[in-house]
Amino acid sequence: MDNIKENVPAKQPKVLSLIQPTAMPTLGNYLGALKNWASMADDYDCLFGVADLHAITVRHDPASLRRQTMEMFALLLSLDLKPDKNIVFIQSHVPAHAELSWILNCYTQFGEASRMTQFKEKSQKHADNVNVGLFTYPTLMAADILLYQTNYVPIGADQKQHLEITRDIAERFNGIYGNVFTVPEPFIGKSGARIMSLQEPNNKMSKTDPNPKASISMLDTPDMIIKKFKSAVTDSEACVKYAEGKDGINNLMAIYSCCTGLDYAAIEQQFEGKGYGDFKLAVAQAVIEHLRPVQEKFNSIIKDKSYLAQCAQNGAQRASYAAHKTLEKVMKKVGFFQIR
Ligand code: TYM
Repeated sequence: MDNIKENVPAKQPKVLSLIQPTAMPTLGNYLGALKNWASMADDYDCLFGVADLHAITVRHDPASLRRQTMEMFALLLSLDLKPDKNIVFIQSHVPAHAELSWILNCYTQFGEASRMTQFKEKSQKHADNVNVGLFTYPTLMAADILLYQTNYVPIGADQKQHLEITRDIAERFNGIYGNVFTVPEPFIGKSGARIMSLQEPNNKMSKTDPNPKASISMLDTPDMIIKKFKSAVTDSEACVKYAEGKDGINNLMAIYSCCTGLDYAAIEQQFEGKGYGDFKLAVAQAVIEHLRPVQEKFNSIIKDKSYLAQCAQNGAQRASYAAHKTLEKVMKKVGFFQIR
């Protein structure tokens, strides 16, 4: 009996995270989330996906969405996510996400959805298009997570509030119907959880920032990366030290720390007596080396449309199968008439 048990692989905790295909991911997306996805790929049972349903909550161009979804999917396949063991998929290919999201809308209070910071920010930014999808964005995200009985969700700090509402919805539903959903935990890395803009270090680095100098795209060439770091906003102290009021330098130190594994004390020691010029160049080189293997893999697969379509189909089938179990249970619990 014990021998049999030893031969059965232990069930691994479940991990899920998605990214919107609104533009090529930035270094912020990479260090805050994608890098952690790759580090969890071996030890957890993972689902990673492209959140294209979420991407239409703001006005978009259909042709760009199609291209960006494929590029984002190819980028995920270029990270070391172990797609044979884990599931890599596109959200709109699994109808269960939209179905569960409707049900969860009916267990979410108007007041709690109104309190979401991202909703408030996006409503201000897109004042001419405050649509209902923008408002119910968090219940779709809750559906993404709860469908797969997820234990851990690797995200950057900006998504923490959406994880909290997901937990509240899951606990409310479980309180009414028994233990239907696993209540998920956020997984937020110690460094890199909030990478800031290179031009306005008080704002987070964002894919949709109109200033191209503010963010590093994951596909930027070495020359572009060096140029952008050279023009990063710092301060006039000329001292590489992590301290309050030095937002620009703190951000560069966080980036360098994520790419090299060095802690802040070691970085301060390495650059003692050196100017910001040397430090900026070292940060740029570390980022270039970190992104190089991902860029090489991306460039080799992006043109292979049939390979990408085959991977998307495989991901869709495996995710749909996994999602179906929870959706059926939920439908039964809420009392929908079942045919079989
Ligand atoms: P999105 O597409 O805005 O970002 C993807 C991931 O990148 C993280 N991130 C950052 N981390 C550090 N510094 C930054 N400057 C930075 N900018 C972005 C985000 O926290 C995120 O983890 N709603 C989500 C997508 C989503 C999702 C889900 C995530 C849809 N369903 C289910 C987890 C689970 C979003 O818009 O992420």
